[in-house]
Amino acid sequence: MANLSALNLRFGLSGQIVFKEIPGSLIVMEVTNAHGSATIALQGAHVMSWRPKSEAEPVVWLSRAARFTPGKSIRGGVPVCWPWFGPHATDSKLPAHGFARTVPWEATATRVLDNGATEIALTLVETDQMGTMWPHQTKLSIAITVGARLKIALTTDNLGNEDVVIGEALHTYFQIGDIADIRISGLEAGDYLDKVGGGSVRRRQDGRVVFSAETDRIYLNTEAECVITDPRLKRRIHVTKSGSRSTVVWNPWTEKADKMGDFGLDGWREMVCIESANAAENAVTIKTGSRHTMAVEYWTEKYDG
Ligand code: BG6
Repeated sequence: MANLSALNLRFGLSGQIVFKEIPGSLIVMEVTNAHGSATIALQGAHVMSWRPKSEAEPVVWLSRAARFTPGKSIRGGVPVCWPWFGPHATDSKLPAHGFARTVPWEATATRVLDNGATEIALTLVETDQMGTMWPHQTKLSIAITVGARLKIALTTDNLGNEDVVIGEALHTYFQIGDIADIRISGLEAGDYLDKVGGGSVRRRQDGRVVFSAETDRIYLNTEAECVITDPRLKRRIHVTKSGSRSTVVWNPWTEKADKMGDFGLDGWREMVCIESANAAENAVTIKTGSRHTMAVEYWTEKYDG
């Protein structure tokens, strides 16, 4: 068990970051500064929530029924999917979306930026058990900047003697007023893989994305900014990215959410996932000795339409 007072002393930035143990025995960092606040679990380097000061409601959604269990992914926030996206290509016994989201990470550095935002760096802690799932020499690190904007950069270093192919996603759950009222722009006329029903059917987007049923799509070959327009919460959420060629849009709708059991009553109505990813045919090859970074930036603006 990590020593909380040692962590606070080393990385706490005089109280801007407070390490705590939450029920379920996970260690989280509560980050608060003049521009916003966030909670980050050491397990999975999982940003659990984020709210800029300008917003009454969080921008990154955490389920009211989320479970905080060692070795299990948390419903909501920003799960880190790595080194594969979705089911493993050849072994269905391996965990969906890889293992990075359910294993311990350690803080390596924290600092206050000139603009008053807080930057936190973490690295995935390697274990032997991981080697059986992923027999490659890689290092995975993340830099999270909490401020008026939330920035996350996920970096994979290939330290081995052969090229590696990774799938990945920053699987962000955004807080919205009601799924039936929002729209997403930025993916117009894009090709996507429709995964509803368990298959993978290629389709083309017609106009903005709106929701009236379960939605589970991998938009391919897109680096575009996406914008969520939310008339109920009277805001727009901007999602920009780099080093990412896929965008996944997901809402489970009522039946699937009920089966999952950690969405809470009608939780699915108040979230949408826009995942900046490299998935399916956009998986990334990292040459031996090289590095790949996928990064996102989120911010909001008022909307009165
Ligand atoms: C999305 C997938 O990225 O994640 C969905 O496209 C999946 O198919 C969803 O249901 C949630 O996955 P999990 O493993 O966190 O329940």
